[in-house]
Amino acid sequence: MEQHRPTVLVVGATGRVAALVVPALVRRGATVRALVRSESGRRQAIDNGAAEAVVADLRDPPSLRRAAAGADGVFHIGPAFQADETQMGCNLVAAAQQAGVRKFVFSSVIQPTHVTLANHASKVPVEAALFESKLEYTLLHPANFFQNLRGAWPGMARDGVFAEPYPVHTRIARVDYRDVAEVAAIALTEDRLAYGSFELCAPGRFNPQEIAAMAGEALGRPVAAREMDFEGWVERTRPPYDARQLQLLSKVHAHYAAHGLGGNALTLEAILGRAPRTLAQYIRELAAA
Ligand SMILES: NC(=O)c1ccc[n+]([C@@H]2O[C@H](COP(=O)([O-])OP(=O)(O)OC[C@H]3O[C@@H](n4cnc5c(N)ncnc54)[C@H](OP(=O)(O)O)[C@@H]3O)[C@@H](O)[C@H]2O)c1
Repeated sequence: MEQHRPTVLVVGATGRVAALVVPALVRRGATVRALVRSESGRRQAIDNGAAEAVVADLRDPPSLRRAAAGADGVFHIGPAFQADETQMGCNLVAAAQQAGVRKFVFSSVIQPTHVTLANHASKVPVEAALFESKLEYTLLHPANFFQNLRGAWPGMARDGVFAEPYPVHTRIARVDYRDVAEVAAIALTEDRLAYGSFELCAPGRFNPQEIAAMAGEALGRPVAAREMDFEGWVERTRPPYDARQLQLLSKVHAHYAAHGLGGNALTLEAILGRAPRTLAQYIRELAAA
């Protein structure tokens, strides 16, 4: 008998990190329907592995109901540092429910209850909307993404300096978003993660000095860690954000400077049934690319 191939509506299929969810779902036999905002986004999503793409907008509820119609599952990630991120997430939860979707995976953030940070506070009402819905939800709480280091890599490779806007001894929990994507795909194609909330971290909380040492080893020449002011760091790494988003990001970095970021790897390893990808491995991939 032919197995049912679930259709999953994916937000962010053209995005920096969420696009990694598309191949993870395809590997697990799902049909991916990308939610895109334009015709060029449609082409990009199909290139990323989506079987189909629908043009819709998280700010436009009727378009979301059309996009979700007939889907078995939804993967959602909130666009970073948007003033209305909460409303966008709640719009999608409502649309999924109205369309009769069964599973909903929300890629939230580690420590979402740490609401003094706006990018954490914006996730809490979306999680609450899921608790109050009839959807079979799974909440993912990923640490800082390894993929953020892509912005810092050209500087490391060019001038042998890893510069971050917090002290060189600051320890931050991180995770490879490919592992988060795999967890999302498991949640959308199996039942074992239903109604769970999962902190997702790679092992080890490395500080910039240790990361610089990993980069030095991968490049075969020394890399030094330095603390840099936020403005200089923006100039150097050029994150894809406007002034308001940068101001919110600076608060995240101020939090790291004062407290670092905690996180525990046990859950990710248990879900994957293998060791999570390590930061040293990721840095070797950056060096080889
Ligand atoms: N960076 C980290 O270390 C980290 C760690 C934990 C959690 N997080 C959270 O993860 C999320 C990452 O966000 P990101 O922006 O970096 O992800 P991303 O992978 O770049 O995805 C953002 C996607 O959202 C889409 N989008 C934006 N506005 C939309 C709208 N109105 N309607 C439909 N789609 C829309 C974009 O589509 P277009 O291509 O059309 O623009 C883009 O594909 C944030 O919520 C952040 O708080 C980040």
